[in-house]
Amino acid sequence: MTLSVVILAAGKGKRMASNIPKVMHRLGGEPMIARVIRTAQSLHPNQIHIVYGNGGSDIPNAFPQLDYINWVHQHEQLGTGHAVLQALPFCKEGEQVLVLYGDVPLISTETLQKLFFAAKENNSVGLLVAKLSDPTGFGRIIRDDKNNIIAIAEEKDATPAQRVIQEINTGIITAPVALLKKLLPQIVNHNSQKEYYLTDIIALSVQNGYPVVGVTATNLTEICGINDQWQLTMLERHFQEQRAKELAYHGVVIMDAARLDIRGNVTIAPTVQLDVNVILEGDVKIGAGSRIGPNVYIKNATIGEHVTILANSVIEGAVIENHCCVGPFAHIRAGTMMKTKSKIGNFVETKKTILGERSKASHLTYLGDATIGKNVNIGAGTITCNYDGENKWPTEIGDGAFIGSNTSLIAPIQIGEGATIAAGSAISKNAPADQLTITRAKQEVAKGWKRPAKKTTETQA
Ligand code: UD1
Ligand code: CA
Repeated sequence: MTLSVVILAAGKGKRMASNIPKVMHRLGGEPMIARVIRTAQSLHPNQIHIVYGNGGSDIPNAFPQLDYINWVHQHEQLGTGHAVLQALPFCKEGEQVLVLYGDVPLISTETLQKLFFAAKENNSVGLLVAKLSDPTGFGRIIRDDKNNIIAIAEEKDATPAQRVIQEINTGIITAPVALLKKLLPQIVNHNSQKEYYLTDIIALSVQNGYPVVGVTATNLTEICGINDQWQLTMLERHFQEQRAKELAYHGVVIMDAARLDIRGNVTIAPTVQLDVNVILEGDVKIGAGSRIGPNVYIKNATIGEHVTILANSVIEGAVIENHCCVGPFAHIRAGTMMKTKSKIGNFVETKKTILGERSKASHLTYLGDATIGKNVNIGAGTITCNYDGENKWPTEIGDGAFIGSNTSLIAPIQIGEGATIAAGSAISKNAPADQLTITRAKQEVAKGWKRPAKKTTETQA
């Protein structure tokens, strides 16, 4: 039997008090619905249908690369049953339908497989349920005296006796498409919210002779739905704790799990040390023996082995090879490549720059659009003047060159191998290899010059 996944995401999410659609709020650095889509994909379904409405095309537009998704517009949000009904015409004969929620982001593949197989075995409806000490807000599971599930009572419609029930509906449900096509259109909105409840499918199934299989979720964070910003914050903290735990069990040294944020796909080797307030975003790789200091932000970067990143550095879109040292207070921008054993020190900014093996820019420097060879020393205060107001121009510096402090390299420019540039030079023509190039004005002493002196009066003194 093949699977069609329907993800509900049309609701307004009023309690988020935000103007972006609820399911686009981020968890672990990505829109929460992106996680649900990935989990759905892991089940290898025939099709994924996403029911959207509020927020208009913002949600489909956010995922242009997911061209296999069937986006189903629900013009009016008339309830979860109505929402599933919108996707039903696209589900094929013989498929099993699985309903997920864009705002229940941490549901796992394993739990869904369990539910799917339990339902399949019985050729029936599978319902993911849970037992909560505080069931407030959830639909309650009604069982008969043989302990069979026979209905769901929504909190707003439940009797006081039903409200005491601690077994709840997670909302996640699976059923054969034929059953849904037959029974969903029969659902009515005669309830306190005047909505077409998907949950009414349970009583209808039982009445029509289809048993309902309940599978109990054991990990309660998996079934956590997001309704407001505080729930999102709490789930984010939980999610981060789980990421830190996985890394720690893998051998990563984490100074404080509460002060580490992983917002993407990270591959971190055992023995790597992460100090407090480290944020890793996007695709980040860090090799064995590397140490990341406090207050460091790294996004989309590959960091080799035995690299030291000192405090307060920002690294984005860079490759840093083994045994390099960065910071403190360095800003490594997109397109930077640091070759083995090179060093970028404090208050140095780099962009689209290759820094060769063992080369150093230790202090107060801007390197943009530069290709720098091996064993180059870039003195403090060196600036590659790469921008003329319209175009960006390259700077090339040969192996073994020595750039004196406070040098302006006015690009396009080439500095030959082994060249020395005298401190304080503004270099606008290519500098030859192995020679000293100097553009400073000659130093003179003005003979007989006297500093103008103020006449001091008694009152001034
Ligand atoms: C629903 C269940 C409840 C369950 C709870 C679990 C129903 C009637 N109730 O209640 O039993 O305990 O989830 O969290 O199903 N949506 C649409 N279109 C609509 C209505 C809703 O896409 O017309 C989407 C919403 O965006 C949301 C989800 O469906 O993601 C759930 O809808 P919501 O109204 O929040 O249902 P609950 O009251 O939480
Ligand atoms: Ca909800």
